Amino acid sequence: MTGFPGVPTDIASVIGSITPRYAGLTGKVAVVTGAAKGIGQSIAARLATEGMRIVAADIDGEALKLTAEGLRASGAIVLEVTGDVSRAADIDALFESALATFGTVDVMVNNAANLRRSRLLDEHDALLEQQLATNVAGPYRCSQKAAAIMRDMGGGNIVHISSVGAVRAHHRGFPYDVTKGAINAMTRAMAIDLGGYGIRVNAIGPGVTHTYRVDAGARTDPESYRATSERIPLGRFGRPSDIASLVAFLISEEADYITGQVIYVDGGITAQLSPQGPNGLEKSDRAIDEMKG
Ligand SMILES: NC(=O)c1ccc[n+]([C@@H]2O[C@H](COP(=O)([O-])OP(=O)(O)OC[C@H]3O[C@@H](n4cnc5c(N)ncnc54)[C@H](O)[C@@H]3O)[C@@H](O)[C@H]2O)c1
Repeated sequence: MTGFPGVPTDIASVIGSITPRYAGLTGKVAVVTGAAKGIGQSIAARLATEGMRIVAADIDGEALKLTAEGLRASGAIVLEVTGDVSRAADIDALFESALATFGTVDVMVNNAANLRRSRLLDEHDALLEQQLATNVAGPYRCSQKAAAIMRDMGGGNIVHISSVGAVRAHHRGFPYDVTKGAINAMTRAMAIDLGGYGIRVNAIGPGVTHTYRVDAGARTDPESYRATSERIPLGRFGRPSDIASLVAFLISEEADYITGQVIYVDGGITAQLSPQGPNGLEKSDRAIDEMKG
């Protein structure tokens, strides 16, 4: 990969760039949905490098196999399970396989989602139903299954992957932003419901993150990639590893008193009122300076 920062070309370079930090995670079992590609792949790689045993789940069996093989080649212990988180039967099968292989689940990372966005008046019922099933019911059911195991084991961690779209609306954000708002509510509700069992529940809201998907767009339209980067206060797209680092911290003992929180890893996107640029703050700053004389 040349020209654009942030996306390692293959799973070996994803793993090679990670420094493990949390010795307490060694040997624990993490279920990661959507682990075949993008942010989920980076999370699986990070947790495997921390010495965790990984249950990697994805609807895309071919990509999942490549990721699992790459992780194993680096010495990781990985069970791959092909399935669709929008289907309750597939979630049952996922947890049956995880328990049969590893005997427990310590961490649940709900990352898989349908990312399609549309305008309200262009949007069709089928997409709404699919996104509610994948982005809301999927994490809900996976958390329910995982929490029952964690309760019996004396504790655990659930991390949902939300989005900046949960608190700042995307243009053409339907129904995706609605489902991510539900994730934030689910995070708080689960945290107070499960806290008594020693289960912490948090969420991460990525900003625009440079996955293979963004990379393809950047190659065909580098000018728009550059313009978007400039509107981010830290001046660059997020890296999948930025999200994976926070997952590792949140499930570690270092974060033992953090629950019910949504943390945005977005280079400052949700902090700003309007973006920097020719039509943004720079211009109004200049106008204010001129008024001051
Ligand atoms: N990339 C971004 O800029 C960005 C920004 C904000 C939030 N997010 C969130 O981060 C998470 C990961 O996004 P990404 O950019 O890596 O997406 P992606 O499309 O690159 O990866 C998603 C993975 O989930 C899998 N998946 C999709 N539907 C599934 C289903 N029904 N069952 C099982 N697996 C399924 C896909 O096959 C894929 O491997 C999502 O929750 C997304 O909403 C991403």
